[in-house]
Amino acid sequence: MTNQYTLGMIGLGTMGRNLLLNMADNGFAVTGYDKDAKMLQKLEEDGKAHDLKGFASLEDFIQSLELPRRVMLLVPAGAIVDSVIQELVPLLDKGDMIIDSGNSHFTDTSRRATDLAEQGIHFFGMGISGGEEGARFGPSMMPGGDKAAYDAVKPILEAVSAKVKGDPCVAYIGPGASGHFVKMVHNGIEYAMMQILAETYGLLKTGLGYNNEEIYTTFNKWNDGRLKSFLLEVTKDVFKVKDEKSGGYLIDVIKDEAKSKGTGKWTSQVSMDLQLPIPTINEAVSSRDLSKYKQLRVALDAALPHTAEKIQNTAEFEAQLEQSLYFAMITCYAQGLHLLEAASAEFKYELNLKEISQIWRGGCIIRAELLQDIYQAYSQNPKLPHLYADAAIQGKLKEIVPGTRKVVVKAIENGFAIPALASAITYYDSFRTANSPLNLTQAQRDFFGAHTFERTDSEGIFHADWNSNNL
Ligand code: 6PG
Repeated sequence: MTNQYTLGMIGLGTMGRNLLLNMADNGFAVTGYDKDAKMLQKLEEDGKAHDLKGFASLEDFIQSLELPRRVMLLVPAGAIVDSVIQELVPLLDKGDMIIDSGNSHFTDTSRRATDLAEQGIHFFGMGISGGEEGARFGPSMMPGGDKAAYDAVKPILEAVSAKVKGDPCVAYIGPGASGHFVKMVHNGIEYAMMQILAETYGLLKTGLGYNNEEIYTTFNKWNDGRLKSFLLEVTKDVFKVKDEKSGGYLIDVIKDEAKSKGTGKWTSQVSMDLQLPIPTINEAVSSRDLSKYKQLRVALDAALPHTAEKIQNTAEFEAQLEQSLYFAMITCYAQGLHLLEAASAEFKYELNLKEISQIWRGGCIIRAELLQDIYQAYSQNPKLPHLYADAAIQGKLKEIVPGTRKVVVKAIENGFAIPALASAITYYDSFRTANSPLNLTQAQRDFFGAHTFERTDSEGIFHADWNSNNL
């Protein structure tokens, strides 16, 4: 039982267990550790074919690993990661490595990497996406940090990852906490895409009066085209599921109050710090937060009613909705990738957006047909300043923006809340506006606070005496 296993997993919940089973399927000698006896039993049951067994003793688990040891953590993000590392370190030797595969905040990952490097332990943070199914049969993985540590687990990660056209959906992301940063932004995009899907569902349901079967049929049709994506795939299936208790559809008895674990909020927070706008992602975060004010929403709905007309020209509006969804989808990726670009410069992550779009094409929650176009865009120009700057994407935008405007106008006229869709078109218009009205902002700042301004006709910093000037 000594120095026998290539990798050991700490945390045998569904994600950890499934990833371990995936590794065993791929012929790797792996084992796990969990304090919970039930989790060990479950591992043994599910891993019968490989005689996969776990340890209840951390000491025995550590002794069982090959040197230098590869220890992966799949435990809830936050304080638990620190307490596991604290227990673990005294049992490790210099040169061993810890891979944190949970959704840790990137600043925690930076701190842990620095602390552990001082103790001679290699550490890297790796985002994993794809949920339970992904972990079991092929996730997308975003490892960043200690390159030597990555190289030591690269064959395992490449073997277990999802593949697209034969390419593994895992690549070394960059130094520091870049892996967890990229996973966080992946989740920000995920939040935004979920929100635009929810808003589109609302317009199909309330605007067009579609029932669940019709919504399923519409989403199903769209998923056969350019909108093809994992999120649309699962979304359409939601509308098929019946509920025994109510006798109706399950979706109709689910409360409209959305929860979150924080990765979307972190994305928004960082974007503010970096002064890099991602309004559609922000709206998705805010929409989940606003949804929790159910009582207030019910009261205000009664006090401030707005009568919506049933939207006519069903077929035309449905076609425009397909366009607005596609437009917003492009915009969600555009914002996320723009943020990655800014973070790469600020934190020296050396991010390769071509490679990132490549590993997002399979296995992860935001995988979509569109990522192939994005991958092409960054292959042609790795220094693309923004996704909207790519000629092929511009061709798509020209086609779908008119329909998007129709959807947004109609929705607003009728009082349907579409924060993400509306923010997406406004973001687009802001970026394609050469001369914005924010010269006024600068004038105001200088007027009341002497904050100065720059001029269009000469270099330098200026201040005007606004009160005495020609009033
Ligand atoms: C993934 C998911 C995964 C998880 C989210 C859910 O890529 O597999 O993003 O990490 O489903 O963290 O986040 P919320 O609970 O915040 O919606």
